[in-house]
Amino acid sequence: MKAEHAPTIRRTEFMPLPWTVLRVDLHFSLHPEATVVTSRLACVRNRAVDAGALVLDGDELETLALTIDGCDPQPGTVRRSASRIELDIDGDEAELEIVTRINPRANSTLSGLYQSRGGYFTQCEAEGFRRITWFPDRPDVMARFTVTVEGERASCPVLLSNGNLVEEGELPDGRHYARWEDPFPKPCYLFALVAADLVVLERRELTASGREVLLQVWVEAGNLDRAGHAMDALVHAMRWDEETFGLELDLDRYMIVAVSDFNMGAMENKGLNIFNTKYVLAKPDTATDADYEHIESVVAHEYFHNWTGNRVTCRDWFQLTLKEGLTVFRDQQFSADMLAAAAGAEAAASARAVKRIDDVRVLRAAQFPEDAGPMAHPIRPDSYQEINNFYTATVYEKGAEVIRMLHTLLGPEGFRNGMDLYFSYHDGSAVTCDDFVEAMSEANGRDLDQFMLWYSQAGTPRVKAEGVWDGAAGSYLLTVSQYTPPTPGQAEKQALVIPLAIGLIGPDGEDRPLQLEGEAHPGGTTRVLELSSESRQWRFVGLDAEPVPSLLRGFSAPVILEVEEDDARLAFRMAHDADACNRWDAAQRYAERVLLALAAAAADGRAMAVPQGFVDAFARLLRDQRLDAAFRAQALSLPAEAYLLERMQPADPAALRAAQIHLGMTLGSMLADDLRALVEGLVEPAEYRYHPADAGRRALINLALRYLCAARDARGVALAAQRFAEAGNMTDRFGALAALVHGAVAEAEGALAAFYRRYRDDALVLDKWFALQAGMWRRDPAAPPTLARVRALLADAAFSLANPNKVYALLGSFFRANPAEFHLPDGSGYALWAEQVIALDAANPQVAARMARALENWRRFTPALQAAMRPQLERVRDAEGLSADVGEIIDKALA
Ligand code: ARG
Ligand code: ZN
Repeated sequence: MKAEHAPTIRRTEFMPLPWTVLRVDLHFSLHPEATVVTSRLACVRNRAVDAGALVLDGDELETLALTIDGCDPQPGTVRRSASRIELDIDGDEAELEIVTRINPRANSTLSGLYQSRGGYFTQCEAEGFRRITWFPDRPDVMARFTVTVEGERASCPVLLSNGNLVEEGELPDGRHYARWEDPFPKPCYLFALVAADLVVLERRELTASGREVLLQVWVEAGNLDRAGHAMDALVHAMRWDEETFGLELDLDRYMIVAVSDFNMGAMENKGLNIFNTKYVLAKPDTATDADYEHIESVVAHEYFHNWTGNRVTCRDWFQLTLKEGLTVFRDQQFSADMLAAAAGAEAAASARAVKRIDDVRVLRAAQFPEDAGPMAHPIRPDSYQEINNFYTATVYEKGAEVIRMLHTLLGPEGFRNGMDLYFSYHDGSAVTCDDFVEAMSEANGRDLDQFMLWYSQAGTPRVKAEGVWDGAAGSYLLTVSQYTPPTPGQAEKQALVIPLAIGLIGPDGEDRPLQLEGEAHPGGTTRVLELSSESRQWRFVGLDAEPVPSLLRGFSAPVILEVEEDDARLAFRMAHDADACNRWDAAQRYAERVLLALAAAAADGRAMAVPQGFVDAFARLLRDQRLDAAFRAQALSLPAEAYLLERMQPADPAALRAAQIHLGMTLGSMLADDLRALVEGLVEPAEYRYHPADAGRRALINLALRYLCAARDARGVALAAQRFAEAGNMTDRFGALAALVHGAVAEAEGALAAFYRRYRDDALVLDKWFALQAGMWRRDPAAPPTLARVRALLADAAFSLANPNKVYALLGSFFRANPAEFHLPDGSGYALWAEQVIALDAANPQVAARMARALENWRRFTPALQAAMRPQLERVRDAEGLSADVGEIIDKALA
């Protein structure tokens, strides 16, 4: 076996540093190819550590000078490598001055200081600061920063860094400078600098305690009309954190900057958030309802980090979920509250359920496969080769589920008390996940030792439930057991604490009050049972008839629930389950069963037949006017393809796609009258506004168009074409376009061309155009394979491998959202994958590694596809100069 591409770092090897930094004074003299960074560090010994050298990290730095207390280091006291400097220093304090030269223009990694469209931007999480200057680049080194940025006035009229602006002025030769001071100590991963030609949208607000704060959203000229929604979201997030957690903005100024070239979604740098333009810019003509929703939640996410991440940060990167899981949970709660408030009292519960369903979909489509593959890791990983590979669905989304379970187990008040205690103990420090859970435990007087297993065990637990009805006694005995399958490096698993929310539905469809044996009175119709052993029984009494159990209501734990339910029972729950999330889930389970059976038929060359019972159940939901549109759109959307492939043994993308097309066609043609009536009947307001109720109607209409075009219903296709031509906003325009394209109807190509002409100069909208074509659901059998189209699009003038959004739109969508076209039996898709991963890796390893992950679960596919994948995986593994990022993914996949 070949050696690993990079050394493995282990959680248990954490050691406090012998030296730390109290103050940092940075000076940047910005030049595109030769920026000079002068750093003065006030360092002190860490009293808790006996002795040791002062250690600095660096990456691709040109070092011009390094002095200690004004002098060159004594001979024999310095050990240097390309990535590390160790200094033996006498005494307990030292002032270091370090001068480095870096090349922002050549920095294609988008980590450290880089250029984008003529401006300068930084991204330092996780380990980008070491690409700027030598520094102990660990989150437990928290220092006070002052930063002077000096640059050319013409190209960079705006000079920003963290904290407060304390000075600015002119310099000779058309240059100017600005000096910033951040009053809060912070780890260097939260450092940020922006120097660019930007304009600002500003608002002044009062915090709960009456302090005035300046809020700013900085964008390129011409985009001011797209900044308002992000600003609104910021204000809403501020209010929500004050009301929900008593947390106030602690700065006088809070800035959001949008940049076109960005590896991830956004970054919570203290007081100076840097965002991918995708999560800032929105106006009705260019952004869909989904974009509006994502912007609101990402703005809130980064804002919430100011407390959960910045004021209290991570001791080391293994603790990443401490800030990410908690902050995702907070942004999910925020979005649910915003949706509920907009929906009004009557529709609030349904609005919350729709948000919850969205979150569950993401978890199942992205996290479950990760947890079942070679990259499976606990939410707090035990080891990594490249930390950037661990900004995962597991750390973020499963991490948020773990926090949600604490919230469920402790209740909202108990959870709030735990948060208050956490801040009272740890504000201003760098801590671990144990510290967080201990605060929750202490505040609630509850032992959470067993709960900590959620932090150390990988894999998705299976929960099996079985009920036995005793008619004579009127009792229902529920037996629940758990099992977590082995994952790499973890053969044996222990029983977890699993909160299981349940209800019992009577034959009339109404929930029954829940009374456990031994209880004097029933208590509610939904209750949370706690399964903390391998198996346990609960007996419900006082029932008038055999109930249908509704288990895991609200998706109360990140598990796979295994219950025997026949079609009739699924249809019953689809029609009656009082828990909207479970009602949706019943539809998903039924659809999954039907699709997997159709796929099996397709694989064997048998005729595909859709059971009438499913069509009827689907039609009932479609016609139920009492259900709000957003919920109906969720319930009538089939499960994600990635999730279904995960459920298929072996994964056969071509057979699954044949099944999906067949089911879409069947539903579309059998229910064409209903679907058309729905499109024509749902009245839309004349003027677009982003509002959940309107968004729900638009989503339902677009879904109906999808089915109609899938069925090639002539009048339905005409409706889609007309709506495309006459649309007054992007949601309608793109929804209609997607229906035409996924249906592969004759009108599709013309519509794609018209869309391109209209938006040829709009990078974010073109991303949608690329993604849609790469993800085309269906194609004319006479047309060339989608692979040929993707190759042609790679050469389109609007495409660039250097822009992560373009890569994610075109290649990401093709590799992940179009398995049937990507996994071609001749392996040509895999050859494209290998070629593009290698090309990307030379410029931007983080983006390359994300693309590389598209093949990590290759062992789940049919033997023929596996045989075609292996040589391409090996080709990437053996590529010259492969990064640690891609190396780790490929080595683990092939292990
Ligand atoms: N902390 C950011 C967020 O979740 C993500 C930044 C991660 N960046 C990276 N290169 N790994 O909001
Ligand atoms: Zn985050």
